[in-house]
Amino acid sequence: MRIVILIVLACISIVCLSQPTQGPTEAPTGPLDQTNGLTDPGTFQQDRQVFDEVDASDEGIGPLYNATYCRECHQNPASGGASQITETRVGHLDQFGVFEAPSIPIAHGHDVIKNRTLVNDRATCTSAQFSDREIQERVPETETIKALRMSLPLFGDGYIEVIADADIVKGAQAQCANKKLGICGQPIIVPVAEFRDFTAVGRFGWKSQHASILSFTGDAYLNEMGVTSVLFPDEVTNEEVTKLCATALSPNTGGGGEARGQLGDLAPVARFIRALMPPSRDLALSETPEAKHGAQLFDQLQCSVCHVSTWTTQPPGTIMFGGAYSVAPELGNKVIHPFSDFLLHDVGTGDGIEVVPAEHFGKKAKGKQSVGVANKLRTPPLWGLRFRPRMLHDGLSVTFTEVIRNHKNEARKSSTSFNALTDDEKQALFQFLRSL
Ligand code: HEC
Ligand code: HEC
Repeated sequence: MRIVILIVLACISIVCLSQPTQGPTEAPTGPLDQTNGLTDPGTFQQDRQVFDEVDASDEGIGPLYNATYCRECHQNPASGGASQITETRVGHLDQFGVFEAPSIPIAHGHDVIKNRTLVNDRATCTSAQFSDREIQERVPETETIKALRMSLPLFGDGYIEVIADADIVKGAQAQCANKKLGICGQPIIVPVAEFRDFTAVGRFGWKSQHASILSFTGDAYLNEMGVTSVLFPDEVTNEEVTKLCATALSPNTGGGGEARGQLGDLAPVARFIRALMPPSRDLALSETPEAKHGAQLFDQLQCSVCHVSTWTTQPPGTIMFGGAYSVAPELGNKVIHPFSDFLLHDVGTGDGIEVVPAEHFGKKAKGKQSVGVANKLRTPPLWGLRFRPRMLHDGLSVTFTEVIRNHKNEARKSSTSFNALTDDEKQALFQFLRSL
């Protein structure tokens, strides 16, 4: 009997071991209003409602904020996309030429907002209820560096999050080793808010200032909406102003908090983002001989050195962020085509603003100042480019010719080679870009 069991076990293990491990497969793409399989359709709809729902002041909006719900800035062509909004960031150089975030007095000097480059466009205290208090932020005359930043699309971000840190770093090393290119992207290491002492390679935001979608969600709730959470428990304003101008207790967790667990609304919203499909190609365009020719030119002009077409995500089960997250089977071992290296480059468009850790990771975040990226920006992923009529970080370049001519310094070779193309070749390149 025992021998029979042993033989059976041996056979099972041989069958298991001899099964080839499954190689990476293509991630699904579009429709952009449906789940990528990480969550079931019902959960996806419910999570989207939280992303789409307007938070009121009794749910923690303000005192300083930019908008009352995520979709207000992330909508085109479906919830999770980008929009035409821009935000203001400012700063100045101190006497040693080092970047410094502004100090913005509010409430007649009862509070000073520090360690923050973002300037909120709205405040709750200007409502009738608090008509005698003025807490609107206004840029002081001292701030000589000012920048606009467009909102970014979130489609496919769940896959980008689970690309291995080491792969992004290897990409940078390969660029920098090839001196002929004149291109050397910089990876940045950032804290992960959900696991205090853990750091990872940043990949989200115009400065790659975040590695984790949950961290970015907490940052957005606080800095865009004024809603605190367990990850970001401190309001931007001091106690006095917060008491006067915010009607909800901190941490706010954005309404319905307790029912949804400690993370409150952060949990369904981060899950919604992770379940978003990557944009598909526009097949009517991408299959044309013109667009295919354009794709070749994109390689020839070295665009693809930074706008890297293809990545493979880590295997399912890989533990990330010190154990705070692990790669789901639906997101792991997937081949994606984001057209980015997630590295920071000086392409001559730098907005002069450094990354201030306290702004993105809470007041207690380590590291006083920048990581030396004032004049660099992350290569933006180009998947879904056809949904972005205003381009570059400030949204001020609206034609492809303008965008490419604005690529200088590290990308100078690309733009000078572009200038040398024939009209037909330029049209082919644009057809390719329109198909993304
Ligand atoms: C007032 C407009 C606004 C609101 C409201 C807003 N965002 Fe954003 N979002 C932005 C801007 C602007 C950026 C680019 C920020 C930067 O890097 O400077 C961005 C970037 C992001 C990114 C990075 C995307 C990437 O792929 O790099 C994530 C994730 C994100 N937002 C999530 C959220 C969530 C979740 C909410 C709601 C809690 C939210 N945002 C609310 C404007 C907004
Ligand atoms: C050295 C790296 C690098 C190279 C080479 C490069 N890019 Fe870029 N690209 C960037 C960076 C960085 C930005 C963002 C700059 C900004 O927002 O100010 C960008 C932005 C863009 C955008 C705007 C995307 C958006 O969502 O706003 C497009 C389109 C684009 N590049 C196309 C190209 C094309 C086409 C080429 C080749 C002719 C090219 N790039 C070469 C790094 C590069």
